[in-house]
Amino acid sequence: MEKKTILVTGGTGYIGSHTCVALMQAGYEVIALDNLYNSNEVVLDRIKEITGERPKFYQTDVLDKEGLRKVFAENHIDAVIHFAGYKAVGESVEIPLTYYENNISGSVNLYEVMKDAGCKTIVFSSSATVYGDPASVPIKEDFPVSTTNPYGTTKLFNERILEDVYTSDHEWSVMLLRYFNPIGAHKSGLLGEVPNGTPNNLVPYIARVANGQLEYLRVWGNDYKTPDGTGVRDYIHVVDLANGHISAVKYALEHKGVEKINLGTGKGYSVLDVLHAYEKACGKTLPYKILARRAGDIAECYADTEKAKKLLGWQAQYDIDEMCRDSWNFTLKNPNGIH
Ligand code: WQD
Repeated sequence: MEKKTILVTGGTGYIGSHTCVALMQAGYEVIALDNLYNSNEVVLDRIKEITGERPKFYQTDVLDKEGLRKVFAENHIDAVIHFAGYKAVGESVEIPLTYYENNISGSVNLYEVMKDAGCKTIVFSSSATVYGDPASVPIKEDFPVSTTNPYGTTKLFNERILEDVYTSDHEWSVMLLRYFNPIGAHKSGLLGEVPNGTPNNLVPYIARVANGQLEYLRVWGNDYKTPDGTGVRDYIHVVDLANGHISAVKYALEHKGVEKINLGTGKGYSVLDVLHAYEKACGKTLPYKILARRAGDIAECYADTEKAKKLLGWQAQYDIDEMCRDSWNFTLKNPNGIH
């Protein structure tokens, strides 16, 4: 049977590159597209080291509509997985217009080019951040949505735009995947998270404390109503997340309509839980200091994972120790990122 071709925007990024590997290993033809603003073309060689094949690549910005048209003119694309976008919460508060232009206008460009090319199957990289501060946990897909920063708002707006596109044309298939907290790395140590500058997120920061690049972990508050007072999140292995996209794109190729789906483990871990798991992974005691809460943080956030299990037959397999083990392995092998 003819291989289905999947365009992965943001394909050289953290989640995008892991998803390219999973797609290729699941028998799909992959085309990676990226503007390389926040990633490196060397990632494609790493993908080849893992899968034996280097995906076809377009260095294209989603703001370049003619560049997008060229991709669809030169290839028959069966579905798109759309990761490309800026993703730093704090930065989005400082430069909101850059986030709205890139994450909204860029995405609308993509959806218009898809429509004109007759490609109406999309898996969109959304985020649990659309839930804001939930009234209770675990969080179900039908919980109220509200965002507290421009980054989260661009995710919610993309969900709304794609719902409206489906309303206008029921030939579309739209999967809105709401990620919780992706961490970890491919077991080979060839792919992983390479943050720009000092990491905002917990695990990339801990990784730099573990390899001596940073002095200690700043724990943002221990006065939350959680078991040990520190923030609780649903950390999910990036390989589990990538596999969730394989299940989602398979479902999308077989069904029309819009589905919102949580991709999490359904388990919550506190900051100190993660720190201790990382200590086990790296075999060192990691210093930390308790500081004041970070503005905008919520106490607790973890997923109800029933819908992904029922609709996609997918559930996360890796536990927090394996996530930290794979993160540390990648960090040891790539102390200065992927070059
Ligand atoms: C996790 C916990 C912090 C750093 C964000 C985005 C979300 C998604 C994932 C893109 C919190 C604590 C953190 C540190 C700490 N990104 N922490 N010291 O804020 O849950 O989610 O990243 O899609 O959209 O909102 O992740 O890793 O920043 O924080 O104490 O140096 O770790 O307070 O409790 P967050 P995070």
